[in-house]
Amino acid sequence: MLIDIICIFPDMLSGFIHQSIVKRAQEKGLVRIRLFNLRDFSFDKHKTVDDIPYGGGPGMILKPEPLYRAILQTSQGGLKPLKIFLTPQGNLFSQRLAREFSKEQHLVFVCGHYEGIDQRIRDFFIDEEISIGDYVLTGGEVAAAVVTDAIIRLIPGVLGSKESLHCESFSDYLFDYPQYTRPAAFKTMEVPKILLSGHHEEIRKWRKKKALLITAKKRPDQFQKINLTDEDTELLKDTS
Ligand SMILES: C[S@@+](CC[C@H](N)C(=O)[O-])C[C@H]1O[C@@H](n2cnc3c(N)ncnc32)[C@H](O)[C@@H]1O
Repeated sequence: MLIDIICIFPDMLSGFIHQSIVKRAQEKGLVRIRLFNLRDFSFDKHKTVDDIPYGGGPGMILKPEPLYRAILQTSQGGLKPLKIFLTPQGNLFSQRLAREFSKEQHLVFVCGHYEGIDQRIRDFFIDEEISIGDYVLTGGEVAAAVVTDAIIRLIPGVLGSKESLHCESFSDYLFDYPQYTRPAAFKTMEVPKILLSGHHEEIRKWRKKKALLITAKKRPDQFQKINLTDEDTELLKDTS
């Protein structure tokens, strides 16, 4: 997969793309991330990328020409990329969208800044608009990092074992069960005995029950979407 990010502060992302799982995914050749500095696509001597809004009003707007050139550059050769503009007005990003995007071969993220970008770019060169939440960030860079991170970890082979994806929150709308590590006793707090028992089947059921209860308590809306199996129903009936 190729992920291109067009923004005016690429340094905000260079740490992110050279750390942890995102770095490893690139080293394994599973994903390639390219950062495009919008200023490199501005041809005037001051490298201007923004201008005042027509009609007046506060703030600056990212100009269309550098954005157009940068988008064109990302689309050179290869397949037609899916071009996504990060904006608080977009569809709310979710694990479902992360899964969909992780199947694409080439994604281009366009990050706004200041008061946003020229509407003509949105109207004619963007395929989808995505928001990472109902709040307003200073720029799209942080949003691009959030979305990129969530997508990359879903690419087959990126995480160490299939298990770590399978047991994760949001797979099948179920949140993850509680996790513990050594020591078994920390101050006065002990790890649930079942996890030390070595009874794999009992541990599996305990975890499933906890995951169901946590999801029901924390996100009843999400719990409603789960297709409960007979075993799930039995586990939930058991109040022990
Ligand atoms: C200060 S915001 C501009 C907000 C714009 N005036 C509006 O009301 O839609 C600057 C940029 O940050 C990014 N941004 C802000 N909030 C975001 C969010 N919740 N999700 C994704 N991107 C966001 C967008 O790229 C946006 O163009």
